[in-house]
Amino acid sequence: MKKWRDVDGYFSEQQGVEIQKRVIGNVCVELGSFKGRSTICLAEVAEHVYTVDSFLSIELAKNVTGYPVTYYTMSAQDASKLFEPDSIDFIFEDTTHDYATTKGNVLAWWDKLKLHGIFCFHDYGHTSYPDVQRVIHELFGTIEKVDIVGGLAFVCKKKHALAEIT
Ligand SMILES: C[S@@+](CC[C@H](N)C(=O)[O-])C[C@H]1O[C@@H](n2cnc3c(N)ncnc32)[C@H](O)[C@@H]1O
Repeated sequence: MKKWRDVDGYFSEQQGVEIQKRVIGNVCVELGSFKGRSTICLAEVAEHVYTVDSFLSIELAKNVTGYPVTYYTMSAQDASKLFEPDSIDFIFEDTTHDYATTKGNVLAWWDKLKLHGIFCFHDYGHTSYPDVQRVIHELFGTIEKVDIVGGLAFVCKKKHALAEIT
Protein backbone atom coordinates (compact mmCIF):
# COMPACT_ATOMS: atom_id res chain seq x y z
CA MET A 1 0.00 0.00 0.00
CA LYS A 2 1.22 3.50 -0.78
CA LYS A 3 2.21 5.82 2.06
CA TRP A 4 0.81 9.36 1.99
CA ARG A 5 4.26 10.94 1.59
CA ASP A 6 4.77 8.97 -1.65
CA VAL A 7 1.70 10.47 -3.32
CA ASP A 8 1.84 13.71 -5.31
CA GLY A 9 -0.31 16.52 -3.88
CA TYR A 10 -0.72 19.64 -1.79
CA PHE A 11 -0.08 18.69 1.78
CA SER A 12 3.01 19.33 3.89
CA GLU A 13 4.84 17.14 6.39
CA GLN A 14 3.70 19.32 9.29
CA GLN A 15 0.10 19.29 8.09
CA GLY A 16 0.15 15.52 7.85
CA VAL A 17 1.43 15.16 11.40
CA GLU A 18 -1.09 17.67 12.79
CA ILE A 19 -4.01 16.01 11.03
CA GLN A 20 -3.07 12.45 11.92
CA LYS A 21 -2.94 13.14 15.64
CA ARG A 22 -6.53 14.44 15.51
CA VAL A 23 -8.21 11.68 13.48
CA ILE A 24 -7.14 8.40 15.10
CA GLY A 25 -10.12 6.00 14.95
CA ASN A 26 -12.34 8.69 13.43
CA VAL A 27 -14.90 8.68 10.64
CA CYS A 28 -13.66 11.40 8.27
CA VAL A 29 -14.90 13.23 5.21
CA GLU A 30 -12.47 14.89 2.84
CA LEU A 31 -13.66 17.51 0.34
CA GLY A 32 -11.06 17.64 -2.46
CA SER A 33 -9.14 14.37 -2.97
CA PHE A 34 -6.92 15.12 -6.00
CA LYS A 35 -4.58 12.08 -6.21
CA GLY A 36 -5.15 10.99 -2.61
CA ARG A 37 -2.17 12.41 -0.70
CA SER A 38 -4.24 13.82 2.15
CA THR A 39 -6.79 11.01 1.75
CA ILE A 40 -4.17 8.41 2.59
CA CYS A 41 -2.77 10.56 5.39
CA LEU A 42 -6.22 10.47 6.99
CA ALA A 43 -6.83 6.81 6.15
CA GLU A 44 -3.57 5.61 7.71
CA VAL A 45 -5.05 6.25 11.17
CA ALA A 46 -8.81 6.86 10.75
CA GLU A 47 -11.56 4.25 10.93
CA HIS A 48 -12.92 5.29 7.53
CA VAL A 49 -12.45 8.14 5.05
CA TYR A 50 -15.18 9.26 2.64
CA THR A 51 -13.52 11.47 0.06
CA VAL A 52 -15.22 13.64 -2.55
CA ASP A 53 -13.88 15.23 -5.72
CA SER A 54 -15.68 16.68 -8.74
CA PHE A 55 -13.23 14.88 -11.03
CA LEU A 56 -12.40 11.19 -11.09
CA SER A 57 -8.67 10.57 -10.88
CA ILE A 58 -7.49 7.12 -11.92
CA GLU A 59 -4.45 7.73 -9.71
CA LEU A 60 -6.72 8.31 -6.70
CA ALA A 61 -8.44 4.99 -7.28
CA LYS A 62 -5.08 3.19 -7.50
CA ASN A 63 -3.43 5.05 -4.62
CA VAL A 64 -6.13 4.40 -2.01
CA THR A 65 -6.33 0.67 -2.74
CA GLY A 66 -6.17 -1.28 0.51
CA TYR A 67 -7.18 1.67 2.71
CA PRO A 68 -10.60 2.16 4.35
CA VAL A 69 -11.61 4.76 1.76
CA THR A 70 -14.82 5.35 -0.18
CA TYR A 71 -14.56 7.92 -2.95
CA TYR A 72 -17.33 9.87 -4.64
CA THR A 73 -17.03 11.70 -7.94
CA MET A 74 -19.41 14.62 -7.46
CA SER A 75 -19.48 18.09 -5.99
CA ALA A 76 -18.92 18.41 -2.27
CA GLN A 77 -22.32 19.97 -1.80
CA ASP A 78 -24.14 17.17 -3.67
CA ALA A 79 -22.23 14.57 -1.65
CA SER A 80 -23.42 16.12 1.61
CA LYS A 81 -26.92 14.83 0.81
CA LEU A 82 -25.66 11.23 1.12
CA PHE A 83 -24.76 11.59 4.82
CA GLU A 84 -26.81 11.59 8.01
CA PRO A 85 -26.67 14.46 10.50
CA ASP A 86 -24.24 13.97 13.42
CA SER A 87 -22.41 11.11 11.70
CA ILE A 88 -18.88 12.46 11.00
CA ASP A 89 -16.01 13.15 13.43
CA PHE A 90 -13.73 15.16 11.15
CA ILE A 91 -14.29 17.07 7.90
CA PHE A 92 -11.33 18.29 5.84
CA GLU A 93 -12.12 21.11 3.39
CA ASP A 94 -9.58 21.42 0.54
CA THR A 95 -11.48 22.26 -2.66
CA THR A 96 -11.32 25.56 -4.58
CA HIS A 97 -10.59 27.88 -1.64
CA ASP A 98 -12.91 30.55 -3.06
CA TYR A 99 -15.55 32.30 -0.98
CA ALA A 100 -18.72 30.79 -2.45
CA THR A 101 -17.50 27.18 -2.51
CA THR A 102 -15.82 27.26 0.89
CA LYS A 103 -18.79 28.86 2.61
CA GLY A 104 -21.27 26.67 0.71
CA ASN A 105 -19.39 23.55 1.79
CA VAL A 106 -19.45 24.54 5.46
CA LEU A 107 -23.17 25.27 5.28
CA ALA A 108 -23.87 21.96 3.51
CA TRP A 109 -21.74 19.82 5.85
CA TRP A 110 -22.00 21.45 9.26
CA ASP A 111 -24.97 19.38 10.42
CA LYS A 112 -23.23 16.12 9.36
CA LEU A 113 -20.50 16.82 11.92
CA LYS A 114 -20.95 15.33 15.39
CA LEU A 115 -20.95 17.64 18.38
CA HIS A 116 -17.27 18.13 19.35
CA GLY A 117 -16.26 17.04 15.86
CA ILE A 118 -13.72 19.12 13.92
CA PHE A 119 -14.09 21.05 10.68
CA CYS A 120 -10.59 21.53 9.28
CA PHE A 121 -9.64 23.98 6.53
CA HIS A 122 -6.53 23.78 4.35
CA ASP A 123 -4.59 26.94 3.41
CA TYR A 124 -5.74 29.23 6.21
CA GLY A 125 -3.61 32.39 5.99
CA HIS A 126 -2.25 31.52 2.52
CA THR A 127 -1.79 34.76 0.57
CA SER A 128 -3.25 33.18 -2.59
CA TYR A 129 -6.44 32.10 -0.80
CA PRO A 130 -7.70 34.97 1.38
CA ASP A 131 -11.30 33.73 1.11
CA VAL A 132 -10.60 30.75 3.37
CA GLN A 133 -9.76 33.09 6.24
CA ARG A 134 -12.66 35.38 5.32
CA VAL A 135 -15.20 32.54 5.51
CA ILE A 136 -13.81 31.26 8.80
CA HIS A 137 -13.88 34.67 10.42
CA GLU A 138 -17.35 35.38 9.08
CA LEU A 139 -18.84 32.10 10.29
CA PHE A 140 -16.84 31.39 13.41
CA GLY A 141 -15.80 34.79 14.67
CA THR A 142 -12.40 35.78 15.89
CA ILE A 143 -9.23 33.82 15.45
CA GLU A 144 -9.10 33.03 19.19
CA LYS A 145 -11.90 30.49 18.67
CA VAL A 146 -9.95 28.73 15.92
CA ASP A 147 -6.93 26.47 16.35
CA ILE A 148 -4.39 27.40 13.65
CA VAL A 149 -1.38 25.17 12.94
CA GLY A 150 0.85 25.18 9.86
CA GLY A 151 -1.75 26.63 7.51
CA LEU A 152 -4.54 24.43 8.84
CA ALA A 153 -7.50 25.84 10.76
CA PHE A 154 -9.33 23.45 13.10
CA VAL A 155 -12.81 24.52 14.20
CA CYS A 156 -14.41 22.42 16.94
CA LYS A 157 -18.21 22.11 16.75
CA LYS A 158 -19.52 23.26 20.09
CA LYS A 159 -23.07 24.18 19.05
CA HIS A 160 -25.40 22.41 16.64
CA ALA A 161 -26.62 25.41 14.65
CA LEU A 162 -24.15 27.64 12.83
CA ALA A 163 -26.49 30.55 13.61
CA GLU A 164 -25.78 30.09 17.31
CA ILE A 165 -22.10 30.84 16.89
CA THR A 166 -22.17 33.69 14.38
C1 LIG B 1 -6.06 21.36 -3.82
S1 LIG B 1 -6.75 19.97 -4.57
C2 LIG B 1 -6.87 18.82 -3.24
C3 LIG B 1 -5.53 18.37 -2.76
C4 LIG B 1 -5.54 17.12 -1.92
N1 LIG B 1 -6.32 17.29 -0.71
C5 LIG B 1 -4.09 16.74 -1.61
O1 LIG B 1 -3.73 16.53 -0.46
O2 LIG B 1 -3.28 16.62 -2.52
C6 LIG B 1 -8.42 20.44 -4.80
C7 LIG B 1 -9.33 19.38 -5.38
O3 LIG B 1 -10.68 19.79 -5.14
C8 LIG B 1 -11.47 19.39 -6.23
N2 LIG B 1 -12.67 20.26 -6.21
C9 LIG B 1 -12.76 21.56 -6.55
N3 LIG B 1 -13.99 22.02 -6.32
C10 LIG B 1 -14.71 20.99 -5.81
C11 LIG B 1 -16.06 20.86 -5.35
N4 LIG B 1 -16.90 21.88 -5.38
N5 LIG B 1 -16.46 19.66 -4.90
C12 LIG B 1 -15.58 18.60 -4.88
N6 LIG B 1 -14.29 18.69 -5.29
C13 LIG B 1 -13.86 19.86 -5.74
C14 LIG B 1 -10.57 19.55 -7.44
O4 LIG B 1 -10.99 18.72 -8.49
C15 LIG B 1 -9.20 19.16 -6.89
O5 LIG B 1 -8.89 17.82 -7.14
